[in-house]
Amino acid sequence: MNNFLVTGGAGFIGSNLVLALQARYPDSQIVVIDDFRSGDFSRLNGFAGDLVAANLARLDLNERFGETAFDAVFHQASVTDTRVDDQFALIHDNVEGFRRVLDYAELRRVPVVYASSASVYGIGQTQAIEEGTPPEPANAYAFSKVQLDNLARIRSYRSPEWRVVGVRCFNAYGPGESHKGPMASMIYQLYRQMIAGRRPRIFPDGEQRRDFVFIEDVVALTIQALQAPESRVYNCGSGESISFNEIIAVLNESLGVSLASEFIDNPYPFFQPYTEADLTLSRLQLGYEPTWSPQRGIREYVKRLQNQG
Ligand SMILES: NC(=O)c1ccc[n+]([C@@H]2O[C@H](COP(=O)([O-])OP(=O)(O)OC[C@H]3O[C@@H](n4cnc5c(N)ncnc54)[C@H](O)[C@@H]3O)[C@@H](O)[C@H]2O)c1
Repeated sequence: MNNFLVTGGAGFIGSNLVLALQARYPDSQIVVIDDFRSGDFSRLNGFAGDLVAANLARLDLNERFGETAFDAVFHQASVTDTRVDDQFALIHDNVEGFRRVLDYAELRRVPVVYASSASVYGIGQTQAIEEGTPPEPANAYAFSKVQLDNLARIRSYRSPEWRVVGVRCFNAYGPGESHKGPMASMIYQLYRQMIAGRRPRIFPDGEQRRDFVFIEDVVALTIQALQAPESRVYNCGSGESISFNEIIAVLNESLGVSLASEFIDNPYPFFQPYTEADLTLSRLQLGYEPTWSPQRGIREYVKRLQNQG
């Protein structure tokens, strides 16, 4: 396996994936498609493959790639700003971009691993969430991801011998996310506030809990998903939830400061107060084992951020 197509490869997860594939398979041919709406060229420093700068939702993959024999497609491209108001623009590009990937790959039986999202589980969860939990999208972004899952399921029924595997990532964090600005992880944003000497700003009362997963684990599961025994979605998390108060405590300790939280009103009705990935299926069927607990991952991330200045 050495010929990969990665959509959204200039983004946070996509670029980490591309660089990991390149390191793991030095002879690989990697093609990246990205339109840089939220990605950044600097994320692909060191990339030695072919970059197609285009909006996937309008790209004719047959015309561009013809019979190029890809061994796998990793689909990461997506509008990732969950606050976008233009529902048509968001849903159109997310769903139609994926449809084009599926049309191209299904015909050639090229396995597809695509980015779904834990946002599909909505705001009503109180315990570890299994993949079979009915989706309750609370914003247009999450709704678009439910459509990706529906489309993948419909196509995989039609072509049962072909693999279309969804990765439901929880809150990813780690090196390579700084270009996301306000959409970067809360861990990164709180770190930025605290190294500037400012009090970390969170929503009251800081006891909301999230499953934060380190980027290396996300990349590992995404690659592993190519070996999935069936077409379906898999959770990708650390398997633990951590509260915002606990994150701030770890950051205070790692930075050697003691900044108290400042509570600000939450303007987002779709804010998820509790997420935690049930990893039973990912462990069983993909052999996935997260290597970074949130606490260890945050300490490591701070070290790496400080090393890079
Ligand atoms: N980061 C997370 O915590 C998280 C959690 C769940 C799911 N995801 C999913 O993982 C994927 C990667 O997210 P990320 O955090 O790396 O975000 P990102 O914004 O850094 O990456 C998305 C990339 O896709 C590109 N893109 C978007 N629409 C495109 C289009 N129509 N054509 C071509 N390129 C396009 C952007 O320019 C960007 O480079 C996304 O599908 C996202 O929904 C991320």
